[in-house]
Amino acid sequence: MSTETARGGWGSGDTSYDLFLKKEDVPVARGLWVENVLDMALGPWKRKGGRGAYINLDGSGVNTSYIAIDSYVVEIPPGGSLHPQQYLYDELLFVLKGNGATAVWTAETKKQTFEWQEGSLFTIPLNAAHQIFNGDGNEPALLLGFTFAPTMINLLHNEEFIFNNPFAFTDRYSGEADYFQGPAKVLGKDWLDTNFIRDVRTFAMGEPTPNNRSDSRDEPALVYIEMGCNTMSAHIMGFPVGTYAKAHRHEPGAHILILSGHGYSLHWVENEEPVRIDWQPGSLFAPPEQWFHQHFNTGPSPAKYIAFKPRSRKFRTKGKFMNNVSRKLGGTMIEYEDENPAIRAQYERECARNGVQVNMRPVEAD
Ligand SMILES: [Fe+2]
Repeated sequence: MSTETARGGWGSGDTSYDLFLKKEDVPVARGLWVENVLDMALGPWKRKGGRGAYINLDGSGVNTSYIAIDSYVVEIPPGGSLHPQQYLYDELLFVLKGNGATAVWTAETKKQTFEWQEGSLFTIPLNAAHQIFNGDGNEPALLLGFTFAPTMINLLHNEEFIFNNPFAFTDRYSGEADYFQGPAKVLGKDWLDTNFIRDVRTFAMGEPTPNNRSDSRDEPALVYIEMGCNTMSAHIMGFPVGTYAKAHRHEPGAHILILSGHGYSLHWVENEEPVRIDWQPGSLFAPPEQWFHQHFNTGPSPAKYIAFKPRSRKFRTKGKFMNNVSRKLGGTMIEYEDENPAIRAQYERECARNGVQVNMRPVEAD
C-alpha cells in the first residue's frame, strides 16, 4: 500500500464509479483476467433486467487512471428483453451466445431495429435510447459489453445527467436507415468504420498483411475497427499456427477477448518475472498499465482475438500508447532479437508439447 493510500489521501476511498457499482448490486469480477466469460457467476440486474456481472480487471484502468473501460456480461432470458436504457458513455457490444434484436431511437428519430447473432459486434450510438431482445424462446442470450462508464461517472459524478439526459448527438446518429446495415467505410489500409459486424469470428480480414508487430513468415492479419464515432475502438488480430507477437506495453484499458485458438500470454513489470495466462476461446484479459505483454499461439489452429481499447485513430487523443517502435529507438516494443532468450525457448517447448511446428524466423544474434 502506498503511503498516500495508507494516510487516506489522494487515490484512496471509493470513486463515484465504485459507489455506482455498489448500487448496481451484481457480482463484480476482478483480477488479471476472466478464464471464460461464458462461465461467469451472474446475479439479477435490477437496472438492466436479466442477470449479469461486471468485470473490473486490474488492467481496465478503473483503479489506475481517469481513462478506463469496464466490461460486463448480461444474460437475456429466453424470449425476454432487457429494460430500455439510455446513457452518456460509449459502448461496444459483442454477442457471446444466442440471437436477437436491438431497437434504437431518440426523441428526434423513429425506432429502428436490427438483428444480431452469436459473434456479432455492434455499438449503441452515444446517448441513444435502446432495448435489447432475445430472439430465441428456448435459450438465454449472452452479451459482453465494454463501456466508458468509469471515466464518465468519475468525471461528472452526476448519474441523473448520465442516465437521464435528453441531449441528442446528431453528429453521431440521426436515424440513418442504413446505420446498422451499410457497408463498412474504408478509412485506410486495414482500417474500417462500421456500426455492425455480423460475425467477427468469420469477418473477412483479407489476406494477411504486413505489420511490424510480428516477424513470423506468415504475418498476422490485423484490422482496426471504428464504431459509432466513439472514442473507444476495436481491432481484430489473427495469429497463424506456430507464431507469436512481439512484446509491447501501453496505457491501461485495452481488453483482449479470445475468439478462437489456444495459447498463452505473458504479462510483466519490467525486470520482474512474467505472469502467465493460458487462454482459450472466451478468455478475457487486460494488460495492466505499462506492463509488457506478449501473446503466443501454441495450438494446432490459427488464433484470433478482438481487442477493445480506450482510444480511436479517427478521433485522436494523446497518451502513452503503443507505437510499434523498438525500445532501442525509444519506443514501446521489444524486438525478437532483444527479448529474453527464455521467451523463445519456452515457446518452442510449448509448441513441441502440442506437436505444433514453430513458424518463426530464427533470432539472429547481433
Ligand atoms: Fe497491447
